[in-house]
Amino acid sequence: MGLFDDVLKGNESLIKNEDALDYEFLPKLLPYREQEQRYLAACIKPLFQKRSGRNLLIHGPPGIGKTAAARFVLRDLEEETDDIHAVYVNCWQKNTTYKVLLEVCDQVGYKFTQNKKTTELMDVAQRIINKSAAVFVFDEIDKAEDFDFLYFVLEEVYHKAVFLLTNYRSWLVELDERIKSRLTPELVEFKQYNAAETKGIMEERRDYAFPDGVWDEKAFASVVQKTAQLKDIRSGLFLMREAALQAEERSEKRIGESHVIVAVKKLDDFTVKNSAELAADEQLILQAVKEHSGSKIGDLFKHYQKQGGAASYKTFQRKIKKLEEGKFIDVEKTMGGAEGNTTIVNRKLTDF
Ligand SMILES: Nc1ncnc2c1ncn2[C@@H]1O[C@H](COP(=O)(O)OP(=O)(O)OP(=O)(O)O)[C@@H](O)[C@H]1O
Ligand SMILES: [Mg+2]
Repeated sequence: MGLFDDVLKGNESLIKNEDALDYEFLPKLLPYREQEQRYLAACIKPLFQKRSGRNLLIHGPPGIGKTAAARFVLRDLEEETDDIHAVYVNCWQKNTTYKVLLEVCDQVGYKFTQNKKTTELMDVAQRIINKSAAVFVFDEIDKAEDFDFLYFVLEEVYHKAVFLLTNYRSWLVELDERIKSRLTPELVEFKQYNAAETKGIMEERRDYAFPDGVWDEKAFASVVQKTAQLKDIRSGLFLMREAALQAEERSEKRIGESHVIVAVKKLDDFTVKNSAELAADEQLILQAVKEHSGSKIGDLFKHYQKQGGAASYKTFQRKIKKLEEGKFIDVEKTMGGAEGNTTIVNRKLTDF
């Protein structure tokens, strides 16, 4: 038997439209985020009259439609007008001012960027954009290594709205005063979807991605339930794809519970934001949480110090908060009790 016989025999994929399971896939509609999208649009509208738009810090945990909503609004804007530049930059991928400016120039239609220095790129971008107006979405803003590009946009672009997206609301606190005072963003919190909303989104995605009747109903219900529990649509997409691949591997024609169970096991190793991307100190803290899940924060700090952690207690607390916001860990506050208020830190449970 050849290893690829099944391919040659035309063993069909159970997935009809693989793109629809991509995290970057932008569906035709974005239900349950209408209000947020309308608000984002309202912050852009003044640009149509050559006035300044509003700046926003859009925050919330992973996988709940922040990027999708922002890209949706930009797409609508581009369909509506050619007079306002719509610039989207992911600062995880473009994490320096130079890289951001290359991207900005590219998106406003300037292609002769080769061999140009950052300041030259700024001059070009400014000249082009100031003929009209621009919306900037800087996604994953906390991943940027320097913020000169932000200063540049705030200082040199006349008519703009700047939307910054992050999991970490606390990111703003540490931002350079020079930038903060020019930015003065409004905070927009994206809340997690409830169970019914999660179900609606997952059903829609299933119908984009799979032919009718491929999913066993109970199996799909478990996927939805797990997704609702994790409160992260991306993990739901992961589960749908993995379960489908499991079924395909076994040459089965329907996706059933046994496939979902395997997919869920794989989820355990999959954190939506890969923890390998965390800084060394945060890794150390995460490790301590994994080993001493359920500890009080003070005790956890001692474990962390024993393992060589050097941060102050205050910094440690801040990092715990950050890990919580990034959904790497869970934090519970217990009120009252014999010892007054305490904070208990838990590892994330992804078990079924
Ligand atoms: N209301 C919705 N309707 C349809 N799909 C959605 C909705 N909300 C989120 N999704 C889908 O869920 C996935 C994750 O959403 P998105 O990438 O916008 O998350 P995010 O909030 O930006 O997360 P992160 O903070 O990790 O970047 C995407 O594939 C997106 O299309
Ligand atoms: Mg995002």
